[in-house]
Amino acid sequence: MHARNMVIFFSILALLFVFFLFSISKRLFAKPKKLPPSPPSLPILGHLHLLKKPVHRSLTVLSNRYGPILSLRFGSRPVLLISSSSSAEDCLSKNDIIFANRPHLLYAKRLAYNYSAIGWASYGSHWRNLRRITTIEIFSTNRIQMFSAVRIQEVRSLVKDLFRDSEWGNSVVELKTKFSELTFNVMMGMIAGKRYYGENVVDLEEARRFREIVKKVLAMAGESNFGDFMPFLGWMDLGGVEKRMVRLARERDEFLLALIDEHRRRRNKDDFSSEEGEGKGMKRTLVDVMLSLQETEPQGYTDHIIMALIAALLAAGTDTSALTMEWAMSLLLNHPDVLAKAKAELDFQVGPRLLDESDLPKLPYLHFIINETLRLYPVAPLLLPHESSEESNVGGFNVPHGTMLLINAWAIHRDPKLWVDPTDFKPERFQGPEGAKEALKLIPFGYGRRACPGAGLAVRMVGLTLGTLIHCFEWERVGEEKVDMTEGIGLTMPKAQPLKAVYKPSHSMLNVLSQL
Ligand code: HEM
Ligand SMILES: *[C@@H]1O[C@H](CO)[C@@H](O)[C@H](O)[C@H]1NC(C)=O
Ligand SMILES: *[C@@H]1O[C@H](CO)[C@@H](O)[C@H](O)[C@H]1NC(C)=O
Repeated sequence: MHARNMVIFFSILALLFVFFLFSISKRLFAKPKKLPPSPPSLPILGHLHLLKKPVHRSLTVLSNRYGPILSLRFGSRPVLLISSSSSAEDCLSKNDIIFANRPHLLYAKRLAYNYSAIGWASYGSHWRNLRRITTIEIFSTNRIQMFSAVRIQEVRSLVKDLFRDSEWGNSVVELKTKFSELTFNVMMGMIAGKRYYGENVVDLEEARRFREIVKKVLAMAGESNFGDFMPFLGWMDLGGVEKRMVRLARERDEFLLALIDEHRRRRNKDDFSSEEGEGKGMKRTLVDVMLSLQETEPQGYTDHIIMALIAALLAAGTDTSALTMEWAMSLLLNHPDVLAKAKAELDFQVGPRLLDESDLPKLPYLHFIINETLRLYPVAPLLLPHESSEESNVGGFNVPHGTMLLINAWAIHRDPKLWVDPTDFKPERFQGPEGAKEALKLIPFGYGRRACPGAGLAVRMVGLTLGTLIHCFEWERVGEEKVDMTEGIGLTMPKAQPLKAVYKPSHSMLNVLSQL
């Protein structure tokens, strides 16, 4: 009896010991928290000292050396840097919701309404509501169609100016400015029914002031702010960045609220911009649309929300499209054979009349050119920063919550494993198997929940402008030298040298042009 009790006692003890070992080893070995590899870093700075401008290029050097999934530290901020198609898929598709937040940067606090604007809001009901409103009221096929007249009118006005200046012969034009004025006018035409450049500008002083404000807001977005990565230095406000942001935000909001008020007064005075007014040929603008929604649902469409939406459209929709047009024209001037092929497509499909948006679906080659431009020169090379709201698994590595995610689209677009002769400009590649869409290998607009809602509008705007210019004029480089394709510094990857080109009216379009 005694011996049997002993056996039972020791058996139980042994069993407990095995359980104990098992649970320890499970904690120690079974679920290792393996972080992605990380290049050597400095104390306090982390990897900040490795960031040379342009940033997407220095990050590509890092990922080529250390791998496509890297964990970095920008000062005190943990960063996940992704540079391959499959790991981008892990973040933007598999873990889409986890990575759907945005980091709280100072710019977003001061110039994106305390992180409440659509591009900077955290994932949640407020942001989902904004995406729902904009999907229906701004980016739906119906709305895009409703504003097609604004785009056509602006492109025509550009063509008319170019034709007038060409005096029927060779002439030189600086296209960067033309494209940025065009996209600004298109956006403000949709938003407020006003032009801010060129003829028929209602109030020159107002136009000058507002153009200046928008330019400064965009420039601010490109300035990196020390306090974002060194919060313990943030209170010092080195360089007075925060003060300048606050002042600029105040100026902008004064302007936007006045604009909204002006529309409200006009609505109240008569039926100028109501549905019935529209029937009488009166212009209805996005502000009008928002104000009529405000009448039925005041909580959902406050002045504040309308103001933040206008600001977001201007920040996200003007420079991006204009720079894409400039990169595309630069590439075409360096590849006259591609330019000739695009022109032949236009001559064949459109003939001797001006290109209309309804022609765009008949122009596949033009769209290959746009895709190839966005591949080589994605104007948001690192997309916008995302942030994780929970711990997650990316490519077998553990990524803690609160990590800022950078997707290097520029590097993915030039990955030799995904593209044949990746740095060559070859629009034809989209005709073949390379054009396959299964993998995330062409992501100039991002992917998933946070992807650009303006992509369709942007491709239309770029397509109409580019197509019309190619169709109406013969284009050449200034001199023998190739166009310098160096990238400049800024949030939306600009071309370092503003593009200049030589042009003359196309012979086949002379009749059409002289009747404009
Ligand atoms: C060629 C032109 C454009 C490019 C390359 C572009 C690219 C992008 C990219 C990369 C993002 C961030 C995606 C991400 O975080 O994963 C974005 C966001 C956004 N874009 Fe665009 N965009 C363009 C034009 C436009 C236009 C014309 C509009 C509006 C009129 C627009 C409105 C927005 C908005 C509102 C967001 C924020 C979305 C959110 O955070 O929920 N974009 N865009
Ligand atoms: C942002 O928040 C601060 C303080 O929380 C407030 O004073 C300010 O009015 C807010 N600004 C905007 C644009 O909502
Ligand atoms: C351009 O690329 C996008 C994204 O991959 C794709 O959806 C679209 O069909 C492409 N267009 C053409 C004409 O290949």
